[in-house]
Amino acid sequence: MSPTHDTLDRGHTDDLLAFVRASPSPYHVVASAAQRLEKAGFAELRERDDWTAGAEGGRYVVRAGALLAWYVPPGAPAHTPFRIVGAHTDSPNLRVKPTPDTGSAGWRQIAVEVYGGVPLNTWLDRDLGVSGRLALRDGSSRLVCVDEPLLRVPQLAIHLDRTVNEGLALDRQRHMAPLWGLGDPRPGALLGRVAEAAGADVSEILGWDLMLHDVQPPGYLGADEEFVVASRLDNQISVHAGVAALVAAAGAARPPARIPVLAAFDHEEVGSGSESGAQGPLLERVLGRSVTARGGGAEDFDRALAGALCVSSDMSHAVHPNYAERHDPGHHPLPNGGPVIKVNANQRYATDGAGFAAFAGACERAGVSWQPFVSHNAMPCGTSIGPITAARLGVATVDVGVAGLSMHSARELCGARDPGLLARVLTEFVTSQ
Ligand code: CO
Repeated sequence: MSPTHDTLDRGHTDDLLAFVRASPSPYHVVASAAQRLEKAGFAELRERDDWTAGAEGGRYVVRAGALLAWYVPPGAPAHTPFRIVGAHTDSPNLRVKPTPDTGSAGWRQIAVEVYGGVPLNTWLDRDLGVSGRLALRDGSSRLVCVDEPLLRVPQLAIHLDRTVNEGLALDRQRHMAPLWGLGDPRPGALLGRVAEAAGADVSEILGWDLMLHDVQPPGYLGADEEFVVASRLDNQISVHAGVAALVAAAGAARPPARIPVLAAFDHEEVGSGSESGAQGPLLERVLGRSVTARGGGAEDFDRALAGALCVSSDMSHAVHPNYAERHDPGHHPLPNGGPVIKVNANQRYATDGAGFAAFAGACERAGVSWQPFVSHNAMPCGTSIGPITAARLGVATVDVGVAGLSMHSARELCGARDPGLLARVLTEFVTSQ
C-alpha cells in the first residue's frame, strides 16, 4: 500500500462531474454511459435482435435503467473468461407519485414516494428539479429533465420546532411533499410542465418514471480542492469508471486477455429485485448470448463463467472525523487513499481472500494504493450487488469502492483523485490475466 497519489487526473474527475450532472435518473445514467461507449466504437444490440452477425468488438445492451457492455477481442475463443465490473445506476431519492398534484393550506405541492435509504433531512431546503422517463402512447419512451429550481421541501423554522437539534423527526408521508406554487392543486400541472420540457404532447403521455434531483451543480471542495461534492456519487463513480475501463480495454494496443464486461444494474438501492436489477437473469442471459453469438455452446459458457472474476464496485465509507468511534479502529479508509476493498465475513460483501488478492494485485500492477474496510462489530454492515452476483452466477466476486462521506445524502463527498484511481485499477483488472 505504498504508492501515494499527489497528482489528480483532472480530466477523469471533470468528466465524472459532467457525467453526474447530465444523469439525474438511472435512465440518464444509461444514456450518458451509452454516449461514451458509442464514441469509443461500441455498438448497441437490442435484446430482440439476432446477435450472431459480427460478434467481435464492443457491444452494449440497454434494458430500462440498466446497461450491460462488453468487448470481444479479435479471435477470442468462445470460452474466454469474463472480467466483470458490476455497479448500479440508481441512487436514493424522492419519486413522483402517479397522481402528483396535491396541496395543503393554500400551497400547491407534489406527492412523492421515498425511494431507497434516504436520509430525509438532506433533501430539506434544496432547490429541486425533476427528471426521468416518459412512456408515450405509441410505445416509445422519452427522457426528460427539468434542471432548474422548481420545487423545495422546506424545513420547519426552529421557532416552531425548538427541540430540532436534539433529533429531527420527519414523517415520510406528511413532511416530505415539496411545494412549487400557491393556490389550489391543478390536476395535470406537473405532467404538463414535464411534457413541455420534453417537447411531447401531454395527451400522448400514458405513463412515467419521474424523480426529483438537487439542481446545484457538482464541484470541487476543500482547502486544496482535494474533494468533490455531488449528488449520486453512489454509484455513478463506479458506472463512470467502469465505462472508462471498458473503453481503455477496447482501445489498448495489446488486446485484453479476457472479455471485459460492465454490468450497471438498476434498483440496487431497493434490493435489486427487478427486470433490470442484479437479482434478475439479465447478466446471465446477456453473457450466455454473447457466447452463443460467437458460435459457443453451453460448455463454452460454463467454462467462461468458471474462469470469470467479478468486481462489484460501489461507494464505501470513509472514516468520519466526528464519529470515528463508529468505525473499526483498525480500518479507517480516507479519501484519495485509493480504492477500498470491502470485507464482511457474513457475506454482506462477497470478498474472500482470493478475491482480495486478485484486486490488490490489480492495484499493485496499476501502481495504485488500496485500503481494506470492515465494519465495527456493533454497526450493521451495508451491502451491494456483489453477493447477489456471486450467488446468482457462482462467480468469484470482490466488493470494492471509493471512500466517501455523506453516503446516500442528497449531496455526497469523496476524494477528487479516487475516481481516476479506481478507473486505472478497473482497467488493469479487466485487461489482465
Ligand atoms: Co451504492
